[in-house]
Amino acid sequence: MTKSMILTGAVVLAAVSYGAAQSNNSTIPGLPEGAVYINPLEYNVLGPNSTWYTERNTSDFIGFNPTQTAPPFFQVFDPSFVTDVLGPGAQIRKVASSPGYALAHEAPVHVSALHALFFSSNDGGPEGYNGWYNNSVVSWLNVSEVEQSWNDTEINVPIHTLTNLSDLVQMVNGGTGTYKGNILFATSGRAESPPSIVAVNPFSPYNVTVMLDNFYGRQFNSLNDLKFLPGTEIIYFTDPAYGYLNGFRPEPKLPSQVYRFDPSTGQVRAVADQFVNPNGIAFTGDGQTAYVTDTGSVGGFLGNNDTYPATIYQYDVDPTTGSFMNRRVFAYTDSGIPDGIQLDTNGNVYSGCGEGTHVWNSNGTLIGKFYLNSTTAEMLFTAHGLFILDEEVIYYANITATGVNLTVP
Ligand SMILES: *[C@@H]1O[C@H](CO)[C@@H](O)[C@H](O)[C@H]1NC(C)=O
Ligand SMILES: *[C@@H]1O[C@H](CO)[C@@H](O)[C@H](O)[C@H]1NC(C)=O
Ligand SMILES: *[C@@H]1O[C@H](CO)[C@@H](O)[C@H](O)[C@H]1NC(C)=O
Ligand SMILES: *[C@@H]1O[C@H](CO)[C@@H](O)[C@H](O)[C@H]1NC(C)=O
Ligand SMILES: *[C@@H]1O[C@H](CO)[C@@H](O)[C@H](O)[C@H]1NC(C)=O
Ligand SMILES: *[C@@H]1O[C@H](CO)[C@@H](O)[C@H](O)[C@H]1NC(C)=O
Ligand SMILES: *[C@@H]1O[C@H](CO)[C@@H](O)[C@H](O)[C@H]1NC(C)=O
Ligand SMILES: *[C@@H]1O[C@H](CO)[C@@H](O)[C@H](O)[C@H]1NC(C)=O
Ligand SMILES: *[C@@H]1O[C@H](CO)[C@@H](O)[C@H](O)[C@H]1NC(C)=O
Ligand SMILES: *[C@@H]1O[C@H](CO)[C@@H](O)[C@H](O)[C@H]1NC(C)=O
Ligand SMILES: *[C@@H]1O[C@H](CO)[C@@H](O)[C@H](O)[C@H]1NC(C)=O
Ligand SMILES: *[C@@H]1O[C@H](CO)[C@@H](O)[C@H](O)[C@H]1NC(C)=O
Repeated sequence: MTKSMILTGAVVLAAVSYGAAQSNNSTIPGLPEGAVYINPLEYNVLGPNSTWYTERNTSDFIGFNPTQTAPPFFQVFDPSFVTDVLGPGAQIRKVASSPGYALAHEAPVHVSALHALFFSSNDGGPEGYNGWYNNSVVSWLNVSEVEQSWNDTEINVPIHTLTNLSDLVQMVNGGTGTYKGNILFATSGRAESPPSIVAVNPFSPYNVTVMLDNFYGRQFNSLNDLKFLPGTEIIYFTDPAYGYLNGFRPEPKLPSQVYRFDPSTGQVRAVADQFVNPNGIAFTGDGQTAYVTDTGSVGGFLGNNDTYPATIYQYDVDPTTGSFMNRRVFAYTDSGIPDGIQLDTNGNVYSGCGEGTHVWNSNGTLIGKFYLNSTTAEMLFTAHGLFILDEEVIYYANITATGVNLTVP
């Protein structure tokens, strides 16, 4: 930089005003009742005395909630969030809870034959009551009960926990399907029990078939999440080190990477690496584009480090090898880490972050958030809306967007 450029910069700085930084008087047409429009232009400049960042973790609200609106609510950053995702009458409500027990963490699977939502409890984290010696649990709720009570003042449908699931299912963390009528889970394994991909009959007696539990004889680290490549029966799954980092698996012996498994041939291979900890995985409906979240900034017993990824990577799926190619940053979340990830049929990308579920459109613009004031790990579309798993609470939003079809007949 030349001397004259420095001088010019100084002159410009002297004239800057910070007065408008905290304005929150914007609105847009069609905003659903209770939703808040945040015009990003009003927050680009906060001034040198801003206490915004340090206020975050000591204030009444976590993450970015400049209007200090009471959760849960829709936070709109781009008008397309209203028109393309929410619809005019959308509401978000608490629909089930399990105080003191993180029953609703990840692995949501909608079984349409039962109109039931299955999900797993927090594995290795707070309020999960499990670890090296104890398994996590799988539960379900009846989606019809939620839909039918939608106009009630308060909704609190019962959560049913499976008590007789096979010991072959240890620390469920990811789910998808249904696959030939079955639930498909990615298990992280526990202690010396191997991580695995299992098919679970959603009807009693909930019998289980293990589909994969090793890489040519070596146990995986701790499988985290999985999806089918749309239009195929090929399973892609992530294998980070979180079982070890959360104290319920031995030290990792494989890189933290993403694999592809073809159940028809038994072939399993690595398709993407160079992660700190790959976590959620999803595809566009046409199967051509893949998303993998890297939650490396959360390190379990190693502690958290904000200089590591909290990032969603986007890839092209190589039609020849099935590998992921042309990796690029799709989004870096402003709050927490992007954990589980789902796509809607318009290509919008939903991920569970530090204070709720964030939504980016297909060109990477943050268009809105389901602001809950707490970390959410995963969410799932059912026929008429979006369920958000929030550990001790489950939310449902009756939005117009619909999810990519995850069913494999
Ligand atoms: C909000 O904006 C409207 C339209 O620009 C203006 O009339 C109104 O006075 C503003 N209110 C506040 C509190 O700034
Ligand atoms: C920042 O705070 C200092 C000390 O209170 C004050 O002198 C200064 O004017 C403030 N700057 C702005 C831009 O408000
Ligand atoms: C807030 O964050 C700062 C640094 O990021 C940390 O030192 C402090 O302990 C945190 N406070 C709370 C209440 O979590
Ligand atoms: C938001 O979350 C923080 C941190 O958990 C909590 O202290 C605060 O009470 C919450 N605020 C509301 C309004 O729920
Ligand atoms: C604007 O934000 C302030 C906090 O910064 C809040 O007290 C106030 O209620 C907000 N007003 C509106 C109309 O949202
Ligand atoms: C959500 O529920 C409200 C209240 O019943 C209703 O007015 C609105 O149309 C619903 N929206 C959708 C997309 O179903
Ligand atoms: C594991 O389960 C046992 C028996 O139910 C219980 O006493 C113990 O506290 C549990 N351990 C953890 C880490 O929650
Ligand atoms: C809830 O109320 C809306 C109108 O406000 C109505 O359209 C809808 O059918 C009602 N839903 C249920 C489940 O009763
Ligand atoms: C469960 O058992 C039934 C009856 O033996 C069998 O047809 C089905 O394939 C089993 N499902 C799984 C997921 O193991
Ligand atoms: C975070 O990671 C960076 C890069 O490895 C390192 O320099 C820094 O010391 C770490 N910070 C903490 C608090 O561990
Ligand atoms: C992406 O989407 C936003 C919101 O619809 C739009 O404003 C923007 O022009 C689009 N393109 C890019 C490159 O961001
Ligand atoms: C999803 O795909 C399955 C299997 O192809 C099909 O039976 C089902 O009707 C589809 N669901 C929707 C909502 O399109």
